Amino acid sequence: MDARRALEGRRAFVTGGANGIGAAIARRLSIEGAEVVIADIDIGSAALLAQDIGARAVGLDVADLGRVREVVDASGPFDILVNNAGVDQHAFFTSTTIEQWRTLLSVNLESVFATTHAVLPAMQAAGFGRIINIASEAGRLGSRGGAVYAAAKGGVIAFTKSIARENARKGITANAIAPGPIETPLLRKAVERGGAALLESMKAATLLGRLGSPAEVAAAVAFLACDEASFITGETLGVSGGMGCSG
Ligand SMILES: NC(=O)c1ccc[n+]([C@@H]2O[C@H](COP(=O)([O-])OP(=O)(O)OC[C@H]3O[C@@H](n4cnc5c(N)ncnc54)[C@H](O)[C@@H]3O)[C@@H](O)[C@H]2O)c1
Repeated sequence: MDARRALEGRRAFVTGGANGIGAAIARRLSIEGAEVVIADIDIGSAALLAQDIGARAVGLDVADLGRVREVVDASGPFDILVNNAGVDQHAFFTSTTIEQWRTLLSVNLESVFATTHAVLPAMQAAGFGRIINIASEAGRLGSRGGAVYAAAKGGVIAFTKSIARENARKGITANAIAPGPIETPLLRKAVERGGAALLESMKAATLLGRLGSPAEVAAAVAFLACDEASFITGETLGVSGGMGCSG
């Protein structure tokens, strides 16, 4: 049996890797042998986690497109890109402002353009790459109280498919993951606002009737990042307790 870890020798760039789902992804990729760079606006938590798992931490606001390029140029090249950083702001559409649209689109969608633009040339030159974008079931199903967030995540899914099409013959796969409700600081903030009824409705929206864990999302990322996932590209994998199965 090959005792080599699945991602030994691979270098991974994980945005928003300091907390929640991103932290679980950074930890899991590290356990699988990858050399991980955690890029997060919360440099304090990123540095603590990096120390714990033997990774590197970089302070980065993914909405700052120029700085994204600088950080990738200084810390790359990368074999694996995980676009995980994201924000949500609950508001019914007529109450949202143009400032909220800009924030949601820049952090959730433009950041994905920027990191992909920065990492792809080296992946193309190497003939290998794994791009994994953390979208959301909201991007496939829509979201009551989250129209702009859902639009940004839908954009992530369409962008992922396009990158898959352009790069399939270059050894690069691009896939999206659509989490359902996952127990993280982001979800806890939403539940603080919406209360127990919101929490129950989130659980009920899944076939399994529960929240998912960050580790369950990280397991799917690790699989898509490994060599054995070489014939999978352009897909959106729901990690959502079956929430999207009728979509
Ligand atoms: N938690 C859920 O239920 C859920 C469901 C579907 C999709 N998602 C998606 O999963 C991803 C991770 O979500 P989470 O629940 O772990 O969120 P979280 O808020 O718990 O963690 C997000 C991380 O991203 C970082 N971040 C935020 N803005 C940033 C910026 N501008 N630049 C760099 N880093 C930034 C934060 O500091 C934090 O470390 C997001 O893209 C989110 O949209 C989450």
